[in-house]
Amino acid sequence: MEKTNLERRVFHPPEEILRHANIKGEMYKEAQADRLGWWKKQAHELVTFFKPFEKVLDDSNPPFYRWFTGGTTNVSYNCVDRHYHSDKRNKAAICYENEMGKKVVMTYRELYVEVNKFANVLKSLGVGKGDRVCLYMPMIPEAAVAMLACTRIGAIHSVVFGGFSSHSLAERINDAQAKILITADGNFRKGTPFPLKENADAAMEAAPGIEKCIVVKNAENPINMHEGRDFWYHELMASAAKYYQPEEMEADAPLFILYTSGSTGKPKGVQHSTAGYLVQVQATLKYVFDLKETDVFWCTADIGWITGHSYVVYGPLALGMTTLMYDGTLDYPDKDRVWEMAERWGVTIFYTAPTAIRTFMKWGPEYPKRHDLSQLRLLGTVGEPINPEAWMWYYENIGGGRCPIMDTWWQTETGGFMVTPTPILPIKPGTATKPFPGIEVDVVDDDKQPAERGYLVVKSPWPSMLMTIWGDDQRYLDEYWSRFGDYYFTGDGAKKDSMGYIWVTGRVDDVLKVSGHRLGTAEIESSLVECEEVAEAAVIGKKDDIKGEVPVAFVTLKDGYKGSSELVAKLKKHVDVKVGPIARPSSIIFTSTLPKTRSGKIMRRLLRDITEGRTIGDATTLADPSAMEEIVAAYSGKAG
Ligand code: PRX
Repeated sequence: MEKTNLERRVFHPPEEILRHANIKGEMYKEAQADRLGWWKKQAHELVTFFKPFEKVLDDSNPPFYRWFTGGTTNVSYNCVDRHYHSDKRNKAAICYENEMGKKVVMTYRELYVEVNKFANVLKSLGVGKGDRVCLYMPMIPEAAVAMLACTRIGAIHSVVFGGFSSHSLAERINDAQAKILITADGNFRKGTPFPLKENADAAMEAAPGIEKCIVVKNAENPINMHEGRDFWYHELMASAAKYYQPEEMEADAPLFILYTSGSTGKPKGVQHSTAGYLVQVQATLKYVFDLKETDVFWCTADIGWITGHSYVVYGPLALGMTTLMYDGTLDYPDKDRVWEMAERWGVTIFYTAPTAIRTFMKWGPEYPKRHDLSQLRLLGTVGEPINPEAWMWYYENIGGGRCPIMDTWWQTETGGFMVTPTPILPIKPGTATKPFPGIEVDVVDDDKQPAERGYLVVKSPWPSMLMTIWGDDQRYLDEYWSRFGDYYFTGDGAKKDSMGYIWVTGRVDDVLKVSGHRLGTAEIESSLVECEEVAEAAVIGKKDDIKGEVPVAFVTLKDGYKGSSELVAKLKKHVDVKVGPIARPSSIIFTSTLPKTRSGKIMRRLLRDITEGRTIGDATTLADPSAMEEIVAAYSGKAG
């Protein structure tokens, strides 16, 4: 994609931003000199504790680290009550718009009322401290209300992205043993209602643990309401009591579970904590996006992903800021939708994913040019490496050459930003620059030695780190702590440049980033092998100019079956139904064999060599070295 080496381009922060930035240069030094002291200070400044914490970090049982132990707090109290009791009471908390143009501005006072009422609704349906509540919802204010209401009563939410299939939803409900499901009658995609409730109904068939389902009326979409199980949100809210005293939660009480993909077919329930999470999401947002009282912050992520949790809901609301939620596609009714909204809502900070930026770039600069974007002050990107060409386009065409770009590297597991610029750092297109103050990250080789190119690791615990994998401590140990001992292994490759800046090069495991969405190759493979025709499947990521990468499936068929375009369509449909349309392979190649070692391990790197058009790497360990010729031939005559 790149023709020139852009590493040498450095952009220095504008004077105006430097002068007023929340972050000061000394903070990096302070945090380096006393990492725990720095986090202690952040906790005191940013979180209202009911009972003060005794210890900043309890590291007596690594890697099961606990932050701010002894302290108690409540997340909804921090996000809502303390602003309700301040002069932010009538400030816009959530600005919302859907594709069809419906708009809501919810002040902190209104949010307080809604959250309290919904906490009472949940309580009246039998939800208590520690119970799991599953959300399968559009990007609507009720989703934020439901998340906050869960935290108010001490229930643990598990938000499942609305684009996942009913099968994926059921799997996540069952793993978390959730007893309540909150959903909606649908939401709009390019003007057509999307059948969320239908998917939820199918999921509940396979998830009998769900006792009650709460449905938000959002799309006026005809749906079935299952008597005794399904309840309308607005009806329950109409009679709900107006105040619920926030539960006093231990600092390390589980706050939420968020499922993400790993190296096996089974999604992992990443479990986050209460106080540590709340400290880091606020500190990062305050210092990286430099939030000021009058800012309007627009993070385009869906609440089904960690970015939506940390930087649409919890971070901005805990800081008492105005957060914008949009439920819709980027090009409806036209390709300037995002810029039209940014101008109209007065967005000052805009945070999105490289895949969206590349899409805007493909559409052309005439769309942002239709609108006045001079209110923008800072831009951000997340989810996958950004190619310098897209970075430059974003910088010039959206930021008008004056808005620094915060390329934030982090993960579902890290909860908040880890490697990221702040507005006082020089930035370069394509690098997430340096660790945030108080975060210790490095690039190491196989022997755990610092290297210019290698694996990205986190060398010491951080406040918003995952606590474990829900119900599976062993998997937590295996996935993150087995490779480099006391260093957390991120699963990413990275290199370091002469300025010490970190360039994340992408995943080194079997995880794909498709349009920034995280998918496991094993999840797609196991759905393919469920089809009666399929003997084996190997899925890899192929580079894509817009989506970053797309899944490509190599499939061997059982005896008696033949590849055809009908079969390609059938297999793609099956992946849609089993995992979700985001996981659909862009192409399916039928071959009579897959490249395997003598021990039966599929060598995906050889398949990647084929799809990227590279010389095939070392194939000497293959059980059948002639297999590659056949696969290359099958790929060049490519199906579907
Ligand atoms: O590969 C890295 C990539 O996204 C992965 C984490 O995915 P997920 O848990 O879905 O969280 C995404 C949103 C935080 C990482 O292991 N990634 C994320 N941000 C960046 C990135 N790669 C390069 N640059 C980034 N800024």
